[in-house]
Amino acid sequence: MECSVRARQGRTRVAQAVTVIVPTFNERDNVAALVARTAAAMHGRQAEILFVDDSSDGTMDEIARVAASAPLPVRAIHRDHNVGGLGGAVVVGLREATYDVCVIMDGDLQHPPELVPAMLQRYAQGDADVVAASRYIGGGDSAGLGTAVRLGVSKAATVITKAMFLRRLWRSTDPMSGFFLVNRARIDIGKLRPQGFKILLEILVRAGERHDLRIAEVPMEFGSRRHGTSKASLRQGATFLAHLARLRFGKMGLFALIGGIGAIVNIGIMWALVSAGMDYVLAAIVGAAVTIVGNFILQERFVFHAERRDASRLWVRFAASVSFNGIEAALRIPVMAWMVESWHISSVLATAISLVVAFFARFLFHALVVYAPRRRGASDAKAEPPADTATMRVLRAIDDEAMRPGEL
Ligand code: GDD
Ligand code: MN
Repeated sequence: MECSVRARQGRTRVAQAVTVIVPTFNERDNVAALVARTAAAMHGRQAEILFVDDSSDGTMDEIARVAASAPLPVRAIHRDHNVGGLGGAVVVGLREATYDVCVIMDGDLQHPPELVPAMLQRYAQGDADVVAASRYIGGGDSAGLGTAVRLGVSKAATVITKAMFLRRLWRSTDPMSGFFLVNRARIDIGKLRPQGFKILLEILVRAGERHDLRIAEVPMEFGSRRHGTSKASLRQGATFLAHLARLRFGKMGLFALIGGIGAIVNIGIMWALVSAGMDYVLAAIVGAAVTIVGNFILQERFVFHAERRDASRLWVRFAASVSFNGIEAALRIPVMAWMVESWHISSVLATAISLVVAFFARFLFHALVVYAPRRRGASDAKAEPPADTATMRVLRAIDDEAMRPGEL
């Protein structure tokens, strides 16, 4: 009796057992200090450290060496295939953790392990499912992000993201934080489809669908990297935008977004070429060609990347996609004229209707025809070496160029 009363007052609550999940990608030189500082911070608590590793620099050997003399259990899982990057590693950690209460922490000491007790204390108040370390609340600091550009990008991304998920992210000042505590029993791990860095966002938006997750925050000072280099890149930035669009609008929204960007690029190219003195018909052809190839690469990469594997070959997909666009363009105007003539509606309305219908048709054609599974069992059968046609080489080269990493 007395006991339960005291428990309710929260004074004698037994300290929570915790798994500290650390994703690592070539962090060899940070392991020893990270384990030492985490162990010191966890002193007197039941805790383990779980590394989920994708490294090729001997990080695993270093973890084994350090674990042998560590004052707390240190486990490590090395993945044969890096699926989903940082976020994918975190999901593996959540599944394999010994305890339900998990703290996700970077492996480069930019996240101070000394903050974990404060996160656990905040969690122990019992009114939150997630406790995030925020760079943007009182006492927080994001100096470690480095350049003003990266800070600006990070802030802008936060504002856009919050605006897109107003209700779910209302209480979060830093949904991009990579340092957070989550009770995995309160989330649906199976729902997570992480790509790259934004795993907290993914959890808050997707895994708490049954009930909104209750978020609390503690301020953090985002330190500077100790050793090695950041894996953030332009590619991560692009992955993030695609991730966001897919989270909010699904595949079709992302497809529409890419189409929209393509239209703007098309106009931009035409304008630039015509101002440079090119004949407008030629400019239109160049603009259309660039847009068609660009849209195709983006949709391959971001919308149908999972379907690609079992679909027809690259050049077949490209030909089907381009043919559809051509047929659509050729049909849309006569159909529009027909609508104006026979339904007696304004040409603006007819244009709008035809564009909307064409968009759905285009999406359905791509989803159901271009990226339909063709090669049955292709994933188990020995993959045939892809025929290296000229078109494909050009597409690949452009794709590689567009996806080259850079600092963000
Ligand atoms: N297993 C695995 N696989 N780990 C990875 C991978 C991967 O593909 N990519 C990165 N990591 C690990 C790194 O080794 C490091 O421990 C951690 O994830 C963060 O990677 P960094 O490359 O250091 O990222 P950052 O410092 O630019 O960004 C961090 O801070 C941001 C702001 O809080 C990350 O935590 C971001 O998620 C976060 O938004
Ligand atoms: Mn880092």
